[in-house]
Amino acid sequence: MSTIVTTFRLPPAAISLLEGLGELYGPDDWKAHLADAEGLIALLTVRVDEDLLARAPRLRVVANAVVGFDNVDLAACRTRGVQVTNTPDVLTDATADIAMGLLLAAVRRMTQAEASLRAGEFKGWDFWDYLGGDVSGARLGIFGMGRIGRAVARRAAAFGMRIQYNSRTRLPSEEERALGVEWVDWDTLLTTSDVLSLHAPASPETRHVLNRESLRRMKPGSYLINTARGTLIDEEALVEVLRDGPLAGAGLDVYEREPTVHPGLLTLPNVTLLPHIGSATPATREAMAMLAARNVYAVLTGGSPLTPIPG
Ligand code: DGY
Repeated sequence: MSTIVTTFRLPPAAISLLEGLGELYGPDDWKAHLADAEGLIALLTVRVDEDLLARAPRLRVVANAVVGFDNVDLAACRTRGVQVTNTPDVLTDATADIAMGLLLAAVRRMTQAEASLRAGEFKGWDFWDYLGGDVSGARLGIFGMGRIGRAVARRAAAFGMRIQYNSRTRLPSEEERALGVEWVDWDTLLTTSDVLSLHAPASPETRHVLNRESLRRMKPGSYLINTARGTLIDEEALVEVLRDGPLAGAGLDVYEREPTVHPGLLTLPNVTLLPHIGSATPATREAMAMLAARNVYAVLTGGSPLTPIPG
C-alpha cells in the first residue's frame, strides 16, 4: 500500500486510478502526510525543493501536473532517486490558442477598444477610430520552437503571418518547410519581428532574455506576447518600453512574480493581461491531471513513467 499526496483536487477518474494503490490525501492535508508519501502530484505553485524533499523521505515520484518544471529542483530529486514527470502534449493546443488570442488582442488593440466601449466612448462607427495593426502579412518571431511554439506557428500561418523562429535546437529542414518557418539568429528575431511570441522554458539561460537592453532593441512598433514563463522578461524594463517605445503593445499570460503583476503594467492601456490561463479548459485540465496520475501509477507499480523529465 502506498501513500500518495496531491496538492490540488483531482478529477474522479484520477482519484479512482490512484485509490487502488493505497491512501490518497488531497489539498487540505497533503502536507501532513508528506512523511509517508511515495507519490506527490504537484503544481507550478508548489516549490519542490530540498526542504520539501527532506520532509518526504519515502518519495519515489513527483508528478508535476503542468508542462513547465521550473518549480522543481531536478538535481535534488536526482540525488534522492526521485523520478520527476510533467504533462507535455495535452496542453499544447489550449496554450497555443491563448497565445494567438493575445496576439490578436494586442495587434488589433482589442483591450483598448473594449475599455473605451465600457467607458461609454463608443459613439457609433467611425472611419478613423480604433485602428490597429494588420495581422495578415506581419512577421511573427517565435522564441522556443517546441510543441507549443510549433502549434502557434500553425495557427499564425493560417492567419497569413510570415514566421521566423529561434530556438535552442533547430528543426529539421523538412519540418521547417512543412510549417513554413525560417530559422534566424536571436538578434534578427529581436530586431525584425513585428510580433515576438515567447515559448521557451524558464531556465537560468532564458531568465530575463528580454531585459532592458534587448527590449530596447526590438523593432519599433512591435508587440511582445508571453505565454511561457514570466521570468523570461524583466517586467520593470517592459513597463518602460511599453510606455516610451519601442513596443506598441504586449499580451501577457504569465508574470515574473506570480500572482503579483507589476503595478506599472496594470496602469498601461496597451497591454492585455490574463491570469495564467493558457491551459485553462476543462478537457485540458482533466487530461493534465490524468497524465500526472498515470505517471504516479506507473512508477509506484514498477513501470516506466509515461512522460519523464530526464534526471
Ligand atoms: C504549464 O503547464 O507549465 C502551464 O504554465 C500551465 O498552464
